[in-house]
Amino acid sequence: MAQIKNIGLFTSGGDAPGMNAAIRAVVRTALFHDLKVTGIRRGFEGMISGDFYEMNRKSVSNIIQRGGTILKTARSAQFRRPEGRQAAYEQIKKFNVDALIAIGGDGTFRGVKTLGDEFNIPIIGLPGTIDNDLKGTDFTIGYDTAINTVINAVDKIRDTAESHDRLFIIEVMGRDSGMIALRTGIAAGAEGILIPESKFNVERLFDRLENGRKDKTSRIVIVGEGEGEESKAFEIGAQVKEKFPHLDTRVSILGHIQRGGKPTCMDRVLASRVGVAAVEALLAGYRGEMVGLLNDEIAFTPFEHAAKHNTDIDPNMLRLVEMLSL
Ligand code: F6P
Repeated sequence: MAQIKNIGLFTSGGDAPGMNAAIRAVVRTALFHDLKVTGIRRGFEGMISGDFYEMNRKSVSNIIQRGGTILKTARSAQFRRPEGRQAAYEQIKKFNVDALIAIGGDGTFRGVKTLGDEFNIPIIGLPGTIDNDLKGTDFTIGYDTAINTVINAVDKIRDTAESHDRLFIIEVMGRDSGMIALRTGIAAGAEGILIPESKFNVERLFDRLENGRKDKTSRIVIVGEGEGEESKAFEIGAQVKEKFPHLDTRVSILGHIQRGGKPTCMDRVLASRVGVAAVEALLAGYRGEMVGLLNDEIAFTPFEHAAKHNTDIDPNMLRLVEMLSL
């Protein structure tokens, strides 16, 4: 096995608070072990165009508390094509990079799995996405910050909902995953949660609105965004308005505010732990795996498994919402 001397580091897919803390941990751990780190800007796009630069101790100072990613990020269509990956490999060789650490979500891991297999490059991944939809880690970097951003926003909406006696349908991020909706719904005391994993069960919501307590002054329903182009929240809002015209219903989409802001302590610590483990794993000979935390212990999961959408929604969590919002 060739010795690793120069690690290429990049972030890819949607940014997530805590990615900077992970970048810092990787750079500082690599320097501690006398390795070089080459930063690759804008994910696979920068890998293809050769946007590489040498990172040092100072390039990661004062970033642990900052949201976003100093390496920038992108979603790359070019990289899905063999010519794109070939071009990326040429740049990797040109800059003498002999291993990669990728910080991102399921799309990133599918990309690096292919690249690693095609060109025999040692690659380790870190779970960086607000969605918390990866297998092999209890939490992804950015999720804790995002759910705290959501509950702060929902608490504010509750104030106005309560003042106007309104029902609010609030859409949160998570593409095809209801993880953000589930936890924030519980934490914000929502009256209902509609998520892709339970097929946006509107009948259940209608039943509660029809037969539940009538003296409620405000109601909050959290909706996971789902995969389609059209907003799920507006679709559900229209159905609620039609069936319950006496309810004063409003729809609110929280949007990209959920991806920004200072990472929470949880996210900074998670990012730091997995960042250190990623470098040391490469040195110990690990390849093609994501480093996560399971039951508070470092755990390794092959990319192809980690990238599988985590649909393990605990039905008890959904039940809790209904019981507690009686
Ligand atoms: O993957 C993270 C995520 O924020 C999803 O929750 C959301 O569906 C998507 O990215 C939004 O992507 P974009 O940044 O392309 O609008």
